[in-house]
Amino acid sequence: MNDDDLVSAAKKAAENAIIPFSGFRVGAALLASDGRLFAGCNIENPSLSMSVCAEQVAFMNALSAGAREFTKVAVWADYDQFVTPCGKCRQLILEFAPHATVLMADRNGSFMVRKIGELLPLPFRHRQGGDKG
Ligand code: THU
Repeated sequence: MNDDDLVSAAKKAAENAIIPFSGFRVGAALLASDGRLFAGCNIENPSLSMSVCAEQVAFMNALSAGAREFTKVAVWADYDQFVTPCGKCRQLILEFAPHATVLMADRNGSFMVRKIGELLPLPFRHRQGGDKG
């Protein structure tokens, strides 16, 4: 799967966004190391803190299906600038895809590329007494 295809998958996922509050439509697509593709969209809730970003939905979808390594993360938004993941999603991406390349697209499908380590330098880490299953 090439980068344009992954961005297209993120755009496709965004069609299912539930965005009554922000009107900001986002989709995310992850490429797992085993070749599988996972996607998600943002889902908002009247209890606003329950709203979830597209990246979160995509990762929960992938992780719950057993995927554990990811090479690329694409994020698309119906926006005239490249959409850059929020801080919480950067932490999420770094935790589960520490070496991933992040493709950040605008509504036309043009995208900017960065490693997650560039987007979140000096991340919080804690490894004592646990593993990721
Ligand atoms: N949103 C995402 O889905 N991903 C991001 O990285 C940034 C923000 C969503 C959350 C909310 O539904 C809407 O965009 C406005 O913040």
